[in-house]
This record gives sequence, structure tokens and C-alpha cells, in this order.
Amino acid sequence: MTTYTTVTAWTQKEGERRVTDLFIDTYHYHPQGVWQAPGRVNLIGEHVDYNGGKCVPIALPHRTYAAVATHDDNDRLLRLVSRQADGVTEIDLNKVGPYDSPQKVDGWGAYVAGVLWALEQKGYGPFPGYDIAIDSCVPFGAGLSSSAALECAIAVAVDDLAELGLGGSVDDPDDEGRKILVEACMSAENDIAGANTGGLDQSSSLRCREGKAIMLDCQDGSVRPVEFDLGAKNLTLLVIDTKAPHSLNDGQYASRRNACEQAASIIGVELLADVSDTEAALAQLNDKEQYKRVRHVLSEIERTDKAISVLDSGDLSGQRLEAIAALFNGSHDSLRDDYEVTCPELDTAVDVARQAGAHGARMTGGGFGGSAIAIIDNDKVDATMKAIVDSYQERGFNEPEFLLVTPAAPAGRVN
Ligand code: GLA
Repeated sequence: MTTYTTVTAWTQKEGERRVTDLFIDTYHYHPQGVWQAPGRVNLIGEHVDYNGGKCVPIALPHRTYAAVATHDDNDRLLRLVSRQADGVTEIDLNKVGPYDSPQKVDGWGAYVAGVLWALEQKGYGPFPGYDIAIDSCVPFGAGLSSSAALECAIAVAVDDLAELGLGGSVDDPDDEGRKILVEACMSAENDIAGANTGGLDQSSSLRCREGKAIMLDCQDGSVRPVEFDLGAKNLTLLVIDTKAPHSLNDGQYASRRNACEQAASIIGVELLADVSDTEAALAQLNDKEQYKRVRHVLSEIERTDKAISVLDSGDLSGQRLEAIAALFNGSHDSLRDDYEVTCPELDTAVDVARQAGAHGARMTGGGFGGSAIAIIDNDKVDATMKAIVDSYQERGFNEPEFLLVTPAAPAGRVN
């Protein structure tokens, strides 16, 4: 009999308890508070954020929790502990610098120190020192933005503790202030951790809305809520964490981004999203590989615009559901054939989900492993998960894990 593993999200109370216990066990006093930030899945608009396109993410109920207390003596020392790593890490905030400088920060502490560094670069702070304990139910390395969740949990914690007045609360978020926190988290990732990603993940974690997807416009930085109520139509959003070993991830991501930037300069636009005549733009590209990369980006921008109009036009039934399914499927096929960022595990998850009756299935996130998503009738979810596990076994892949998700609230203080 086939069995499968689902990764359930902790309640915020559970996250708070876990991380508070870890804090007290490690530092022997109580934290000043607990903050959380969610992982994300992007419904559509993949590898377009750094090209100025639109994305449609939701925040996950799976979150990273940070229990934090400020050092009174202004020692500029960060002490970090995490249930997902060994030991206590100490970082001197006076000795934090870009990933390619002598002051580079090794390991996961770069994501934490990087946020403080980036906020200071923007003129906030200088910050004192902090004791921090981290625990997370965002699957690690699954393409669900565990690193952005860590950055964003730190950003909202420091925003509150240092009284920066930027992000507001979960119930009453200040979106303009959150844009500044997004920029700081992106800078932490780009400049300190050395991963040249776009802003999709951090924007999702800080700016998503509970019960909705958002339209994130990466050209002008605006967001607005978009209806995505699968539950109302007896549908489930299934996330399949392929558990595929990531290889060459960073180099491949950077090479895709470089190809886009080079193509934009050949075409004569700042960003590929500025292209107004797709045929004419593609005709300027002689290199076959570059042509395919750009064809993905331009077609994905178009698919995402269509998906937003479909979601805006009514509930997910009938022709609208069929239209979304076709756009999801088209997105995956383009990422597989033109952008070449899928892998056998992702393609298998998507193929099997489609055969099992999914209303669209595609990879989500950066690719090269990570996760796929599928919209499935509630009564077919169990059979779909089993079919995926079976086909992974047949092919000798790692055992996948599953998340059943609904759009969750953005980062903020746990009350
Ligand atoms: C990763 C990056 C994002 C985005 C996606 C692809 O998740 O962190 O910025 O580029 O890949 O859409």
C-alpha cells in the first residue's frame, strides 16, 4: 500500500512555543517577543521578477519563527541559534560586509546579519546587539523561500524592537514601509549572502494577504490582492516538494539572469518587460539559446497577465478554471523546454498530476529541484499523491513530500 508524507504547518502558538523554548534553553532568559514570516508559492510568473514582469504569489501557512531580545549594552553582537543548525553562532555587526569582501559572513547567519547591515546602509540604526532563536516549518531547500522567510522574520522583529515604524502589523500592514523592508531583505540576499535573486520571495513574505493571492508588479513595485479561493470550488492547491538534490543551482540561476540582461541590451530595452513587440524583439536574437530564454520570459509575462485577468473576472469554475489550467501547463512547459530550469523529478510530478486529473500543474520557484504545484479536485488529492509517490519509486527518485496550502497572512509579530 502506498503511503505519503504531508508537511503540516505549525499553528502560530506552536511556532511561538517552540522558538521561545529554544531561546530560554540557549540564553537562559525570556525573549522580548516572537516574530514570524511565511514561505511562499508563486502561482504563475516564473523567472520574470528580475525582468520587470508580474508574479502572482501566495504566502504559505508554513512559517519561520524568530524569538528575539535586544542587548542593553550596545555591544553590536548577534548571537544566533536555530533548531535547523548546530550550535550558537556569534557575529560582530561591525564586521559584516558584502559576500565578495574580506568581511563576508559564512553560513546561514548571513541572512540575519545581512538584513541588519542592509537596513543600516539605508540609514536605519545603528543597531545594538541581539539574541535570536530560530525555528521553522518551511521545508528547507524546497524552493518555498525558506531563506526569504528567515530574512523577513528578522526584518519585522528589528522593525518593532528598534521602533523603525516601517511595516505596521499583520492586521494593519503599512505596505509602503514593507517595501523598504523588502529592499533590505533583497539586499541581504544579493549583497551579503551572494545570491542574485529577484524580489519575488521577500515581497511575498512581507506583502501577501491572508485568503488572497497578490499581483506583484516587479516593474513599479506595486501589489494588489487577487481572488484565489480554491476551497469555494472544492479544489485544493497541492504542493509537491520533489526532494530532488539541488545541483549547480546558484550558477544556473545567475546564468539565466545574465542571459536576460544581455538580451535586453541587444534588444535595446532596460528590462525584458519593456518589450512591446515580441516578434521584433526575438528577431534580433541570433543565439539560439538566448532566443529560447527570452521566448520563455516574454511568453510567461503574457501568460501571467492573462491569468490575472481570468482571476479578476470571477470564481474558479468552468472556462475560467480551464483557462488557468492551460496557463499553468503552458508555464511549466515553457520553463522545461525554453528556460530549461526543470529536472526529471519536477517534470514527473507535473506529468503524473496532470494524468491524475489536475486542473493545471507546474513547477514553482527557481527550479532545478524544489517544488511543483497542482490544482486538484478535493476528492482526487489522495490518489494524486499516491500516484506521484509510486512513479517516484519506479524511477528511483527520493521520496517526495506534500503540502496542502491556502493563502496565509504575511510576516509580523506573533500575538
Ligand atoms: C527564486 C528567486 C526569485 C525568482 C524565482 C523564479 O525563487 O529567489 O527571485 O526569480 O526564483 O521566479
